[in-house]
Amino acid sequence: MDRSVALTGATGFIGSTLLRRLHADGWRVRALVRARRQPRSLPPAAQWITGSLEDPAALARLVSGVDAVIHCAGAVRGASSAQFERVNAAGVAALVRVAAAQERVPRFLLLSSLAAREPTLSPYAASKRHGEQALDRHGETTHWTVLRPPAVYGPGDRELLPLLRWMARGWAVMVGDRSARFSLLYVEDLAAAIVHWLEQPPPAGTVLELDDGRAGGYCWADVVAVAARLRGRRVRQFTVPAAALDLIAAANLRAARLLGYAPMLTPWKLGELRHADWVCKDDAARRAFAWRPRVSLADGIELTLRSFRG
Ligand SMILES: NC(=O)c1ccc[n+]([C@@H]2O[C@H](COP(=O)([O-])OP(=O)(O)OC[C@H]3O[C@@H](n4cnc5c(N)ncnc54)[C@H](OP(=O)(O)O)[C@@H]3O)[C@@H](O)[C@H]2O)c1
Repeated sequence: MDRSVALTGATGFIGSTLLRRLHADGWRVRALVRARRQPRSLPPAAQWITGSLEDPAALARLVSGVDAVIHCAGAVRGASSAQFERVNAAGVAALVRVAAAQERVPRFLLLSSLAAREPTLSPYAASKRHGEQALDRHGETTHWTVLRPPAVYGPGDRELLPLLRWMARGWAVMVGDRSARFSLLYVEDLAAAIVHWLEQPPPAGTVLELDDGRAGGYCWADVVAVAARLRGRRVRQFTVPAAALDLIAAANLRAARLLGYAPMLTPWKLGELRHADWVCKDDAARRAFAWRPRVSLADGIELTLRSFRG
């Protein structure tokens, strides 16, 4: 094995963290990038392939001769089912088809999501499940693994950061259900898990949930308690009324469709936030490739906030 990897999503939150980790560990990375020029803030990839998941020729250049494919690209925001499906389902199908057609078929890792467990909840969740099904369908001859992380946070994240920043200032803005439970994972730990997968692949066709090791996950009160401890002072909880959130999310979705941007806060996202159980079910990932998460929630919040203070 010459330690060569094809990576998609390298310009995103998780993919860029992974790219740095692979680079530091001596992997030769070939990365797909949609922009014409390599983003300056990223470490030099061995090779940048310009193109998208909709471009089979670029995908063929990306995967040719590599040992493994790590598929991190995905749509996490969108204004329609079609937008999510095009990237998260059709994109997987396109990439795995090209990978499976190689003379030496590379191993394939799909970064899915815990959301795939609840495909009826939102177009995002459905598209992540459809991506997993596409991998199963087109990757018959491929040694594949699906990773289903829960909410991932850390430097570079844009989704949880506003909530963490408000908590650091003493205010917890409650947008989900107070009794809902969820797992979390610090982004560097996810990157480490993927490197373990490269070094020590589990049996083919495995679907693994992975979290930070906190059995039973967290509720929002747990996160607020950690933030208060870090702050050394109380964090006040402020609940946005559900009806107000519904109105804002619906207006945001309408505006996104009108103006053509990809919205995060939508009625579907609220459905995901209000779901009662986003807790990872077992420690299969830890058993599968002898990986251990290292970063606790307190350390992870501190590292995340520090990285944004510069
Ligand atoms: N963040 C989380 O909490 C979380 C949790 C569980 C699972 N996941 C999964 O992890 C993956 C990465 O998430 P993220 O948070 O890092 O998202 P992100 O920051 O939005 O990054 C998405 C990446 O995908 C690329 N991409 C999107 N559409 C593409 C297309 N059509 N062709 C080629 N590249 C495309 C983007 O490229 P550009 O830079 O060109 O836009 C970017 O590099 C997603 O599949 C997501 O479902 C994320």
